[in-house]
Amino acid sequence: MQTYDLFAPALTLADRYALFAQMRSEPGLCRVEPFGAYAAARYEDAAAILKDPRRFSSEALAVTAEPAWLGPNPVAHSMLSMDPPRHTPLRALVTRAFGPTGMARLEAQVRQVSEELAEAAVRQGEVELVDAFTFVLPRNIIGAMLGLDPSTFSEFKRWSTNMGMLTSATTEAQYEAVRSVVREMRDYLTEVIQARRRRPGEDMVSDLLQAEVEGQKLTDEQLLSFLFLLLPAGMETTTQVLGNAVLTLAQHPEQLELMKADKAHIPRFIEEVLRCEPPTQLSFRMAMQDVELSGTKVPAGSLVLGLVASANRDERVFEQPECFLPGRDKGTQHLSFGYGVHFCLGAQLARMEARLGLEALVSRIRGLRLCSPEVQWLPGFSIHGPAVLPVELLPA
Ligand code: HEM
Repeated sequence: MQTYDLFAPALTLADRYALFAQMRSEPGLCRVEPFGAYAAARYEDAAAILKDPRRFSSEALAVTAEPAWLGPNPVAHSMLSMDPPRHTPLRALVTRAFGPTGMARLEAQVRQVSEELAEAAVRQGEVELVDAFTFVLPRNIIGAMLGLDPSTFSEFKRWSTNMGMLTSATTEAQYEAVRSVVREMRDYLTEVIQARRRRPGEDMVSDLLQAEVEGQKLTDEQLLSFLFLLLPAGMETTTQVLGNAVLTLAQHPEQLELMKADKAHIPRFIEEVLRCEPPTQLSFRMAMQDVELSGTKVPAGSLVLGLVASANRDERVFEQPECFLPGRDKGTQHLSFGYGVHFCLGAQLARMEARLGLEALVSRIRGLRLCSPEVQWLPGFSIHGPAVLPVELLPA
């Protein structure tokens, strides 16, 4: 069986998608570096792995998030790395805040932040859109949900980007960047929890401190792990879907016309961006027993990857998968928000932020132009989106 190197430094985005197509042409799972993992490149196999926690455990994250070079990392002990039944009550506890009622309550705030940021960005004309818009929007919203003090937001971008490198860091400089972020985030979030214990407010941290799981309150360690997951998850991935949406708009100017003519086109556009350019390219699992999947024997203890970015382009599910076709058949069946019990808790929030963010931007411009033809992508493989986004916005 051929081994594919997913982290090869010279791999361009086009090479990556070509590699996935090659992997999908082989039946069964493929072997990949790093980790000597087994990777499911076809949709059916990736979905089978993600929806079967008994054979493919999320405790893989406990391994990949605590490599020897890092040491203890609270996110390795968050709900994302737990299987049922441990996962179930924790998930139930936080689901309410992210459900339709919670989202309806947030909508006016997301709209207002989007309008203000879009107005300021368009006024600048030439602007670096990650700093001015795509990162700041989800950061301000998750900050408000958690009741964080806006004057403490200055380090969040670095924290979020560096945490995104956790599973794909390869150099000593990258290791040190991740190590220092884990230290800083631990100090910051511990302080937030202690402050809310002393003086509860109207925010999610205060609510979680009061909440009970099976008759017991969350410990500070459990809450810390959850916040370690939530803070970067709430910022980094949504930033990437907005950034990838802007890049797609630059490549497909006709989409801007369609969105301006009918706002209802925006959600269809966002789903297709999510399918084609998923912010989270893969999910890790661990085989809990010797398993056979689509003819490949996977020994117990092996790391197994659901290659979402490849599954979303599987020609067995999506017709003309390489074409950008908003509103396509099965357009919402992509795996970008995962599948099964760990299906993204923030999916509704992310979709709302992307929709209102784009509405605010699109209504104010007649076009946009990338200032450089070369896109500077984020380092690493797991999180996919532009690191910076210098653009010229042409006011409507
Ligand atoms: C476009 C934006 C987003 C994408 C693409 C995304 C993607 C994902 C994926 C793929 C998973 C499942 C991982 C797995 O099965 O191993 C997940 C889980 C999760 N996401 Fe998101 N996410 C996004 C936005 C958000 C936001 C805005 C929040 C919160 C504010 C959030 C919070 C979470 C949490 C807490 C989980 C863990 C759920 C569980 O373990 O049951 N995500 N996300």
